[in-house]
Amino acid sequence: MSPHTPPRHYLQFSDFSREEYDYLLARARWIKARTKRFEPHRPFAGRTLVMVFEKASTRTRLSFEIGMQQLGGTAVCLTTQDSQFGRGEPVEDAARVISRMADVVMIRTFAQSIVERFASHSRVPLINGLTNEYHPCQVLADVLTFVEQRGAIQGKTVTWVGDANNMCNTWVQAARVLDFQLNIASPEGYGVAQDKLDAAERTHCQFFTDPHDACRDSHLITTDVWTSMGFEAENEARKAAFTNWCVEAEMMAIAQPDVLFMHCLPAHRGEEVAAEVIDGPQSAVWDEAENRLHAQKALMEYVVFGKL
Ligand code: CP
Ligand code: NVA
Repeated sequence: MSPHTPPRHYLQFSDFSREEYDYLLARARWIKARTKRFEPHRPFAGRTLVMVFEKASTRTRLSFEIGMQQLGGTAVCLTTQDSQFGRGEPVEDAARVISRMADVVMIRTFAQSIVERFASHSRVPLINGLTNEYHPCQVLADVLTFVEQRGAIQGKTVTWVGDANNMCNTWVQAARVLDFQLNIASPEGYGVAQDKLDAAERTHCQFFTDPHDACRDSHLITTDVWTSMGFEAENEARKAAFTNWCVEAEMMAIAQPDVLFMHCLPAHRGEEVAAEVIDGPQSAVWDEAENRLHAQKALMEYVVFGKL
């Protein structure tokens, strides 16, 4: 039985408090250091992670599967095509069945309501591996990367350039929970629905029409693809709207001298980011990708066992 009754799900960044993030970040660094020294840490021996992918993935699939192996457990992967998810079985039924066999579940899907419905019928913790609305595991890894390389994120300025997508929505929540400033610059029609932000989120966000203004004095500049998975029908309209919304060296130059660049990947050089930025010395993208592994090991451990 999990120490969390009912089970502790991780469906969006705001599901955890700042104190819990302090614990998780420290724990992820401890687990990472052990992994680097090849010291076994196997709290999941005899336990199983079930992953469900309704959208493509490289990093999320690998980091959860390898992470669970490193923790001594087993991972099983289902996709829409090879399971009853693609044939209309109610998500509530899938949750009841999967959670009788698994010890923890990760789902990547479309609407946030799908993970919410699954969670409310699951006996075990559910982790959101990306929905149309949020990508909390990625921002957890990104914050870990920032903290490792630059120290506390509290009080710093993070700039989001581009589509107000699942990554942007998650950064908005992170700004409130971890108490940093978030500058957001998006093309018209692709910005944050400001009336949907709560008062605390609004006090942590500033909105800009020019991405250069948003990047000034920033400690971290981050962006993402112009068209997220599930929105491919809008590709041509988005290409037109996002022309000129590319993170370039000029934007990095007006930020803090030690500014970092982040991108959750996969990236499109010459679209949302210039090659010289993503492949340049301020880019932390490969560290972010690696940290998915360590951050999620700490996360799986916490939702299943609590603080160890
Ligand atoms: N950043 C990220 O989630 O990558 P994948 O789509 O490859 O999992
Ligand atoms: N916003 C992107 C992130 C991919 C990891 C998408 O949802 O496709």
